[in-house]
Amino acid sequence: MSDIADSALADAGRDRIAWADAQMPVLRSLRERLAAERPLEGLTVGACLHVTAETANLVRALLAGGARVALCAANPLATQDEVAAALAQEDGAEVHARRGESLDELAEHVAAVIDTAPQVTLDDGADLLVTIHAAREDLLDGLLGGTEETTSGLVRLRALEAEGRLRCPVLAVNEARTERVFNDHYGTGQSTLDGILRATNLLLAGRTVVVIGYGPTGKGIALRARGAGAQVIVCEVDPLPALDARMEGFEVLPALEAAARGDVFITVTGAPGVLGAEHFARMKDGAVLANAGHFDVEIDLPALREAGGEPRAVRPLVEQYDLGDGRRLNLLASGRVVNLAAGEGHPASVMDLSFALQVLSVEHLAREERLPAGVHGVPPEIDREVARLKLASLGVELDRLTDEQRRYLGRWE
Ligand SMILES: NC(=O)c1ccc[n+]([C@@H]2O[C@H](COP(=O)([O-])OP(=O)(O)OC[C@H]3O[C@@H](n4cnc5c(N)ncnc54)[C@H](O)[C@@H]3O)[C@@H](O)[C@H]2O)c1
Repeated sequence: MSDIADSALADAGRDRIAWADAQMPVLRSLRERLAAERPLEGLTVGACLHVTAETANLVRALLAGGARVALCAANPLATQDEVAAALAQEDGAEVHARRGESLDELAEHVAAVIDTAPQVTLDDGADLLVTIHAAREDLLDGLLGGTEETTSGLVRLRALEAEGRLRCPVLAVNEARTERVFNDHYGTGQSTLDGILRATNLLLAGRTVVVIGYGPTGKGIALRARGAGAQVIVCEVDPLPALDARMEGFEVLPALEAAARGDVFITVTGAPGVLGAEHFARMKDGAVLANAGHFDVEIDLPALREAGGEPRAVRPLVEQYDLGDGRRLNLLASGRVVNLAAGEGHPASVMDLSFALQVLSVEHLAREERLPAGVHGVPPEIDREVARLKLASLGVELDRLTDEQRRYLGRWE
């Protein structure tokens, strides 16, 4: 049985899902194929993802293939209640998510999804798989495997694997090539700035934006911020991305030095306490602090409270901390992932590719021989198929290798 905020919102949810669907041609073509072939007939899928219109279209594709799907939220602030209401009315779907639910409710909803005894899990942050390994080992024998959508989830699953305790295969959707390019780079790049602008209505041109962490996600954000006219400073701990940032033309500085220069700070490292007391002590009056990393640990919130006391809500999703010396710091979305909490997450056309990878990965786990336990890459043919379908939807045609080229490239002499 679903647990949602208000089933009367279902019509509005259907409109929102249809709007996203129009931007998701790859998923739509997969949905049509799955509806004809029904390869997931009888499969139970548990999903812990952001409960948004795009996710609803992923769920619809899995339902079309014959699966039963139970869904809960990977982040309580990202849930679109109207989408949850609409999805809960689809045959074969149950939804356990309410926007703004407490952490206890979130845990109950994760448990409710796990109680459906999923054969395949879809995670964005590894909550389902970690909880199953910690508390429901009885389900592991029936589990064909799972997929993971984000870096921070893979960090947890690889830590489990390193201890020899990961007992099912996991496909690292997050590391597929199409995902890296589209989701992290273009998707998070645009949507993080969109979330910050919606919350603050700042003009970025001429401002100094400090991006902390220059993985594929941070790089996308840095490039988009520069495109909007900002001066961008990058902070890193790894020489390779730091060099990449420098060659890309960004200023690279230690975070403590950047702290005194930035107008907007964006953390996107996956690591805790990246901005802490020593940084707050140097920041300018009016600085904006936003986090695009998966968990709300990158900005040290206890330290911020210690420095600024109880914050004042100055706009929706903007909490202002008064440091008592004429400086105020503005924290967005309570330090939660800003593109989802203050914006709408990635545009649907970006999630189209991520979720096409998810659908093909579920089909792979359900159809193929059981993979050994461990974190696996998404098979390259899935990656290529998603890129091919996307290009087809854009009407883009490719050249083909000639026979002679193929022979040449296959020779060792
Ligand atoms: N908001 C979104 O929609 C979204 C999308 C994709 C990924 N993410 C999240 O963003 C985070 C980063 O993802 P990624 O895929 O780019 O990860 P990544 O691991 O590839 O890159 C993170 C970078 O941060 C650097 N870093 C780590 N600690 C640091 C520190 N203390 N100071 C400076 N740099 C530091 C690392 O060296 C690395 O280059 C993860 O939490 C991921 O889950 C969010």
